[in-house]
Amino acid sequence: MPARDHRPKGIWRVTDIRAVDWANGPEAGMVLLDQTLLPGEERFVVCATVDSVVDAIERLVVRGAPALGAAGAFGVAVAVGEGERRGWTDVELRTQVQRIRDSRPTAVNLAWGVDRAAARIGAGLDAVIAEGRALADEDRAANRALSRHGADWILDALTERASDGPVRVLTHCNAGALATTGWGTALGVVHELHDRGVLGRVYADETRPLLQGARLTAWELARLGIDHVVQVDSAAASTILGGNVDVAVVGADRIAANGDAANKIGTLGVALACADAGIPFVVAAPTSTVDVATASGADIRIELRDGHEVVSWAGSATAPATTTGFNPAFDVTPARLISAIVTEVGVETPGDGSNTIFRATGP
Ligand code: MRU
Repeated sequence: MPARDHRPKGIWRVTDIRAVDWANGPEAGMVLLDQTLLPGEERFVVCATVDSVVDAIERLVVRGAPALGAAGAFGVAVAVGEGERRGWTDVELRTQVQRIRDSRPTAVNLAWGVDRAAARIGAGLDAVIAEGRALADEDRAANRALSRHGADWILDALTERASDGPVRVLTHCNAGALATTGWGTALGVVHELHDRGVLGRVYADETRPLLQGARLTAWELARLGIDHVVQVDSAAASTILGGNVDVAVVGADRIAANGDAANKIGTLGVALACADAGIPFVVAAPTSTVDVATASGADIRIELRDGHEVVSWAGSATAPATTTGFNPAFDVTPARLISAIVTEVGVETPGDGSNTIFRATGP
């Protein structure tokens, strides 16, 4: 992937972040802000082959469920362009598209974005690119809407509990502009509370083993000028039970029809602590993350990543060479531990998880 600097001139604001985009011209392809290099380096890369798209998704150059949806859609455009250059048959093209679809299993947005763009292959490359752009625009709009719903719900819930003062938030992993096509989901709610002038301190879990909280969430919060601290994941329970936060807000990679929600490993522990402390645990995600075909969390496939990520850091071993790391990338929080699921269409309170709360809509 050749390096290319797409940084906007002037102030590098969170609202300017485009983690995934499409560029036309001589270096046409999917443009990604390489999240493996943050916070040290802001470098954009262009993916012009299916191999580079699959590699970028697997290595988390692009990550976060909604961003993966857009990467899936633009990835199909990359495949169509490469297929035209190489003279692929339709079967060869479909095989390459499937490779992109399969590159990470848990975030439903990836398969959704691939399928949405693949449905436009017959109309040509420009139509596929247009579908990717439309998906990205819709995602940004959904994030803005769900952030308003989330902020409203949290402020109402805290008022009912007679909790006044600035809203102190705990979040896990990164569900901000970097994880989406812009603005963010859980961090979008935080941004909205900040804009309303009611936000207190944010506790960002560092998010072992790849440190999305420390490297990415803190990077965004710093640009927003939000008071924040990064804590090790294992501090979350005592921070919550110690009365230091009013609410936890997290994103999701796949939400089952009954409201069970998969998110970054460690989210379940945050939810359990919130339940014990009696504070709200909120999941914020666009409806593109809801998988009505998955009845409950038991049916969600959890990505098991290379154990090497757990027993090493920056190329150095952090455990004996003979020790194997266990590295599930996500966990499932049961609906009964979730106070509210916030999407762009409103807020659901899932109850005990025994009911279907999300159903297929549309024609
Ligand atoms: O492995 P990652 O970094 O892709 O995991 C991301 C998360 O778990 C996010 O919380 C989730 O995708 C929501 S992003 C708006």
